[in-house]
Amino acid sequence: MRKIVVTSGKGGVGKTTVTASLGRKLALRGYRVVLVDGDVGLNNLDVVTAIERRVVYDISDVLMGKCRAFQALVQDSESSMRILPSSKDSSLLTAQAFKGVVDSFGEFDFVIIDCPAGIEHGFHRAVSAADEAIVITTPSLSAIRDADKVLGLLRSYRLSDVSLVVNRVRPDMVAKHEMLGAAEIGALLHVPPIGVIPEDDLITLYQQLGSVPDCAISDRAYLALADNVANNSKAFYDVTQKRRFGRRR
Ligand SMILES: Nc1ncnc2c1ncn2[C@@H]1O[C@H](COP(=O)(O)OP(=O)(O)OP(=O)(O)O)[C@@H](O)[C@H]1O
Ligand SMILES: [Mg+2]
Repeated sequence: MRKIVVTSGKGGVGKTTVTASLGRKLALRGYRVVLVDGDVGLNNLDVVTAIERRVVYDISDVLMGKCRAFQALVQDSESSMRILPSSKDSSLLTAQAFKGVVDSFGEFDFVIIDCPAGIEHGFHRAVSAADEAIVITTPSLSAIRDADKVLGLLRSYRLSDVSLVVNRVRPDMVAKHEMLGAAEIGALLHVPPIGVIPEDDLITLYQQLGSVPDCAISDRAYLALADNVANNSKAFYDVTQKRRFGRRR
């Protein structure tokens, strides 16, 4: 089982969107995937995956012994991926309890944890339960600065791998030097981007329906990200630049 936390520091950069899309691509390749919503109180993984109305139990019910962790999982309508909904109340959710629930999913290939924004307790709880981290940033300077802070904090956790995803890249602006490109952001942060997701209006439009169509420009980018995650590789494939670079490892 690989346990991956998707984090960022700055809010609203696309953690939940990337968690849901990456999980679904891995599941469509045949991997057993569970997403754990670590964003207690402000959870929206259930909304983004359109399972909201089918939620019966959440992580608090698991901790209170009302059900087993597996029983609380809700299956995605588009794939075999399952989602563990978050609770509205965080009182029972210590880092240790959260880790215990994550570790109970041993029969899955991937547990992907959607981290809350910020670097407070919720961040610590989500990161402590993982072995690997994916840091999301957008090309905005404030997001890059927060990603840098988070990368610093992640060094104090025993993680086997930390990688970067650059989200909301606008190729037209990169070409005009109005926006930093993914390669430049990777160089600034000293972490190779394993995913470059373009700005895609279809994401916001279709997210309310629970899935983004295959024709979306971001779809290819998510496939490339899923390839890297599944193969544990760091190939740099920037769909916004339409150029492929060699594998880094
Ligand atoms: N590549 C993209 N192109 C266009 N819109 C996007 C893209 N990625 C995410 N979004 C939009 O950005 C908004 C924030 O995304 P999301 O909720 O995934 O961020 P988050 O980091 O999880 O936020 P929070 O910190 O509040 O948990 C959503 O409305 C989503 O549809
Ligand atoms: Mg989120």
